[in-house]
Amino acid sequence: MFESIRGKILDSRRIVFVTGAGISQESGIPTFRGKDGLWKNYDVMQLATIEAFYDHPKLVWEWYNERRKNIFSTEPNLGHRAISELEKFVKVTVLTQNIDGLHQRAGSTEVLELHGSIVEIKCTNCNFKSEILSEFTRIPPLCQCGNILRPNVVWFGESLPQDVWQKSIIHASTCDMMIVVGTSLVVSPANTLPIYAKQNNATIIEINPVETAMSSYMDLSIRGTSALILPEFVSIFKE
Ligand code: OAD
Repeated sequence: MFESIRGKILDSRRIVFVTGAGISQESGIPTFRGKDGLWKNYDVMQLATIEAFYDHPKLVWEWYNERRKNIFSTEPNLGHRAISELEKFVKVTVLTQNIDGLHQRAGSTEVLELHGSIVEIKCTNCNFKSEILSEFTRIPPLCQCGNILRPNVVWFGESLPQDVWQKSIIHASTCDMMIVVGTSLVVSPANTLPIYAKQNNATIIEINPVETAMSSYMDLSIRGTSALILPEFVSIFKE
């Protein structure tokens, strides 16, 4: 499956992964688009906005609390584990749109979370930010300053954390191989990362069961699930 670029794979020194919801699908976490994109009959795209949060803070918090519990009850899958194992052979950086922390739990040491983290909260008003250490006694939870706390995630229409984004651009612009896994590549600016990689003449591989908006941009586009394909990729380094 990787035969045509096997040499390039073995010569690579800096591999950057760009991951999305699809890599966690085989851990039992639903993706956003397609048939999975509903929660209690709400379109999840409509819930993931600051407007939805201010209109229905309790509802949005219930959605995040349920997702957080679901994430804690799941495990990283063979796809996450393969990426972490790859660190034995080559420098690996993971730029993820996921907020689930599964890459870190699988052992990846360099993970940049473009869209924040579901295990963190921040205040809608002051600078307070923290990990969620216990279940909330009140929903929505309140900050000591009296304002509502929100999940520390990026919602539609919001900017990415600028430090994370700037570092991501540097990683994408300096890698020699980028592997895009489990993302529909329709959300900006994360979907511009392959363009930065291409400008550095990096080889770009996509792993996804279906074609995406950028499949034709890839040097190699593999149709399959990440838990199946990523261990195959890592096995090239073990031969
Ligand atoms: P999407 O739900 O848009 O896309 C998931 C992709 O994963 C699709 O292309 C699927 O074909 C693919 N997929 C499904 N199962 C897979 C598997 N087992 N292995 C590999 N690929 C699989 O999710 P994202 O692209 O991550 O942002 O969405 C990007 C952003 O949109 C999310 O981070 C979130 C969402 O709104 C915010 O909340 C800001």
